[in-house]
Amino acid sequence: MQKLLIEGEHPLEGKVVVSGAKNSAVALMPAALLTDQKVVLENVPDISDVGWMFEIMKQMGTSIRWQRRGAVEIKAGSRVIPVVPHELAKRLRASSLFLGPLLARYGKARVSFPGGCEIGSRPIDLHMKGLRELGAKIWVEHGYIMAETEGLRGEEIYLDFPSVGATENLMMAATLARGMTIIYNAAKEPEVVDLANLLIMMGAKVKGAGTDVIRIEGVDSLSGTQHTIIPDRIEAGTFLWAAMACGGDIVVEDVIPKHVEAVLRKLEEAGAKLHVGGDSIHLSAKGRPRAIQVKTLPYPGFPTDLQPVLVAVMMKGEGTSIINERVFDNRFGHVDELKRFGGLIKSDGRTAVITGRPRLSAAPVTASDLRMGAALVVAALGAEGVTEIEGLQYIYRGYERFEQKLAALGAKARIVGIDAAV
Ligand code: UD1
Repeated sequence: MQKLLIEGEHPLEGKVVVSGAKNSAVALMPAALLTDQKVVLENVPDISDVGWMFEIMKQMGTSIRWQRRGAVEIKAGSRVIPVVPHELAKRLRASSLFLGPLLARYGKARVSFPGGCEIGSRPIDLHMKGLRELGAKIWVEHGYIMAETEGLRGEEIYLDFPSVGATENLMMAATLARGMTIIYNAAKEPEVVDLANLLIMMGAKVKGAGTDVIRIEGVDSLSGTQHTIIPDRIEAGTFLWAAMACGGDIVVEDVIPKHVEAVLRKLEEAGAKLHVGGDSIHLSAKGRPRAIQVKTLPYPGFPTDLQPVLVAVMMKGEGTSIINERVFDNRFGHVDELKRFGGLIKSDGRTAVITGRPRLSAAPVTASDLRMGAALVVAALGAEGVTEIEGLQYIYRGYERFEQKLAALGAKARIVGIDAAV
């Protein structure tokens, strides 16, 4: 089994280049099923969630390959096996994003209920409700979501919550539906806009992505294209907060600063000095961060995916921090593991109150979800002594060459042990 060893209390210094966004990659890959022509995606991160999407698409019978580093070429012929089997669906939540494109282009789908990180209940009722409104018959059989349609038709859909996945699924399905679809209370995340931009390049008529009303006028067919995936704003945020945990002077490159606006404001409140360039962010931080109050919210609010990392940083905050989770019902599973560093945290499932301490001490810890993994790494960077982190397969789901990037910033981070099956 592999472990990541981190010796803490060494400041980070230097430059780090952000990879392509995981959450874009796993939405844009299924979109390639909407055409029989070649779609090439650039800046695709080499992470295990992308690997699982690859595997699912291969099993469906699509032609998919890495053209070169970062570039994935996908061609979905007129026939595919429209099935996402349980063994693969359980690996990642994004497997639900095959429903929309499979229904739209092939008229049927059989997708096992998706898995993903253990961060509380993650229903997909909004996806199913919306697809039904577009004219699909959907039922559940033997753990599989079964879906069929004689042809989707445009409809006005209101989402009870601006779900990222539901917005993406419905947007993809609507591109080939007859007539106009309007999605109200749509998610505004940059990854939704990235998907819309790909679909538009493929010939879809999509307007309003990035606002809460998206209009899609169905077309008869879509064509191939080439598209570069946006940078990963969560990875960028992780490095910035990491430098707050142990102090440092870093430049995060290949980032879109507008995508991390809420994060930058909170970093400043915590005492960071920032210099924001066109596609880079320079952060310098000395001493302990100031305690802050944060609510996670859908974009453009503070991202829930950085909440665990923030809890880790604020264990060393000067004062008491209050972090309120508003996107997921129960996303404080990382708190118990973080307490092993000596963190003083109280949480009731929705809110965490963190009393900062001047010193944390290294401990053996185990990640059981992706962002918890990142939080443990960040806590370790700020803790005295050598931390041993297990459960690296979760970190590899979403961070490309994480330990190499940290080591390049001067972190004393290294992997020991034999490669475990991810
Ligand atoms: C996406 C991101 C994930 C991020 C999350 C919120 C991907 C691959 N993952 O996940 O990293 O943490 O957005 O920013 O893009 N909900 C329902 N019914 C549904 C769908 C969602 O009740 O049918 C609820 C969820 O339980 C959750 C909230 O809506 O409380 C947000 O979920 P959603 O935006 O759908 O997240 P994902 O698309 O799964």
